[in-house]
Amino acid sequence: MTSTERQYVSDLTALPADFTWGVATAAYQIEGAVAEDGRSPSIWDTFSHTPGKVDGGDTGDIACDHYHRVPEDIGLIKQLGADAYRFSVAWPRVVPGGDGPVNKAGLDFYDRLVDGLLEAGVTPFATLYHWDLPQVLQDGGGWTVRETSEHFAAYASQVVERLGDRVKDWATLNEPLCSAWIGHLEGRMAPGLTDLTAAVRASYHLHLGHGLAVQAIRAASSDARVGIVNNLSPIEPASTSEADLAAARRADGHINRWWLDPILGRGYPQDMVEEYGVELPLQPGDLETIAAPLDWLGLNYYFRQIVTADPDGTAPHARQISVPGARLTHMGWEVHAEGLEQLLLRLTDEYGVQRIYVTENGSAYEDVVAADGSVHDPERVRYLEEHLAACARAVGKGAPLAGYFAWSLMDNFEWAYGYDKRFGLVHVDYATQRRTVKSSGLRYAELVREHAGRREGRTAA
Ligand code: FCB
Repeated sequence: MTSTERQYVSDLTALPADFTWGVATAAYQIEGAVAEDGRSPSIWDTFSHTPGKVDGGDTGDIACDHYHRVPEDIGLIKQLGADAYRFSVAWPRVVPGGDGPVNKAGLDFYDRLVDGLLEAGVTPFATLYHWDLPQVLQDGGGWTVRETSEHFAAYASQVVERLGDRVKDWATLNEPLCSAWIGHLEGRMAPGLTDLTAAVRASYHLHLGHGLAVQAIRAASSDARVGIVNNLSPIEPASTSEADLAAARRADGHINRWWLDPILGRGYPQDMVEEYGVELPLQPGDLETIAAPLDWLGLNYYFRQIVTADPDGTAPHARQISVPGARLTHMGWEVHAEGLEQLLLRLTDEYGVQRIYVTENGSAYEDVVAADGSVHDPERVRYLEEHLAACARAVGKGAPLAGYFAWSLMDNFEWAYGYDKRFGLVHVDYATQRRTVKSSGLRYAELVREHAGRREGRTAA
């Protein structure tokens, strides 16, 4: 570690003694083995195999070959010092028909993973849906139809019945915003639709599926701790003009309030219902189901958004503008750690959330393997430290932040961007599947150790 990397070392002492240090992944991004042991195709198999949808024509067919490398990958989690691992369960592995019989071989895989994690002293955090809807359900309407919510709860129940004796922390959905808005409105993710009505209906059935799954999880495991994972962005107007202020309000509704309000018992924001002009397929009791009490809320944070009015665009008629002079990652995303602090405080102060995890946060950079085999990624080290410092500041101001999961354990299939965008704390050479812990991974392990040292110091004192 060089002194340039050390200059960002920040004060993390405010983080609670029992803070959870984690790393995260998702099934389709790492597993590969898409046709093994009875797995059926998901909407991401279809999407990635559709020419022109993913950069470089990449697919998740092999990905990090994690399906065949679980022991090695658990070893990496240990090397990073992480005490928790957030992974997702692939619905098409467990219930290949979308609904109906369970595929035992599919569940066996996660069973082995969970046992391996526990043996290594790593706490499993399982996400039930990270975008890989069984294609067979998409063929029947996917998230635009109510049955999919019901099938999701049935699948959730099967998984929790099998793993709930060992997995206590469950997330229903990962970033339903992306499934609905990017998948059904912008068309940049599976299933690739550009249809506002479909998008709004999908958002509703995702919420309903979440609520029904919360009930199913609790019915299958009385000591489960249940949450949902949302990606949020602080929104700022590009100017003080009336038009931009109104655009910022709409963008906030679209990106943040639509995803928080119904889940947290406030119903759907009326201004956005009007903005979309799409009738919600509400049935009696749904809003209560959707607002089922949760044990924690997951926040995925990547960037803030500065927006201007876009009257000619589609809902929410707001367009993100770039920030002059901003530091950008390889995704073109602005690095703005203060945004993470702001969101944590908003969840605390405005929404009264009692327990929060940062379930994803991380950065893509163009990493290179040096001649000596090492991967030196000072920008990611800096990003990591700045965002952890933002977490610590938020905790200092009262945010009930219980843990942080770095995105990602290792480089992986970055959806429509393919393998070109590397988010890992561990580098993956896709030709050989060789894994190399990057400088950022070493730094992460060091921060975890320092925290543990402080914890012991406190206990001894
Ligand atoms: C999030 C996704 C995750 C990963 C990161 C970079 O939106 O949840 O799978 O792709 O972005």
